[in-house]
Amino acid sequence: MVKGAPGNKGDKTGITRRRFTLGIVIASIVGAFGSLFSLLKVLSPAKEGGGYITTIKPGDRLVFAKGGKVGANIMVSSLNVGDAVLAYPEGKSSNPANLVQLIKLKETDFKPPTDIDLTDKGFVAYSAICTHLGCTVSWVKNKKSPDVSYTECFCHNSIFDPARGAKVMGGPAPIPLSQIGVKVKNDGTVVFTSDFQGPIGPQV
Ligand code: FES
Repeated sequence: MVKGAPGNKGDKTGITRRRFTLGIVIASIVGAFGSLFSLLKVLSPAKEGGGYITTIKPGDRLVFAKGGKVGANIMVSSLNVGDAVLAYPEGKSSNPANLVQLIKLKETDFKPPTDIDLTDKGFVAYSAICTHLGCTVSWVKNKKSPDVSYTECFCHNSIFDPARGAKVMGGPAPIPLSQIGVKVKNDGTVVFTSDFQGPIGPQV
């Protein structure tokens, strides 16, 4: 009998090996997709029905989300005019949809459509999740003129004006970052005073 011909014992062994190898490859691919899906679940904010769900409540204190002071209360003295930090409500950092950018401007800098009633002592806060595809936004500080600093998403260069309700000044973001109320308390901590005023997260 010719080696490798149908019916040959060696050929059956070859077919079994090929099936076994194919099974391992398929299992590996399925496993890789499973791992990728799990990773995306961790990186993506909680969603329900296409919307991002936050658990911020009025009265929640803002804490640092990045840097050497992660988890520490943000105080009124923590920011100068032209500064901004990423912040979470205290004890609620496990939900990325809660991430905000807290910004300090001159009180006289705010223009419509900023909701002035949701600002305090020059502090204003917006969702830190870009409305294009959901990257975290960054702060671009103008050292010479701090009051003309702005928010930018470096994923696709959307630019938002923090003094004008985070209005989109450039790039593909379809809508502004949603404002959320903040207030400075007597003890110097900063707390939320409202829910987000509009949709948060990607809107495309
Ligand atoms: S995700 Fe922000 S500009 Fe695209």
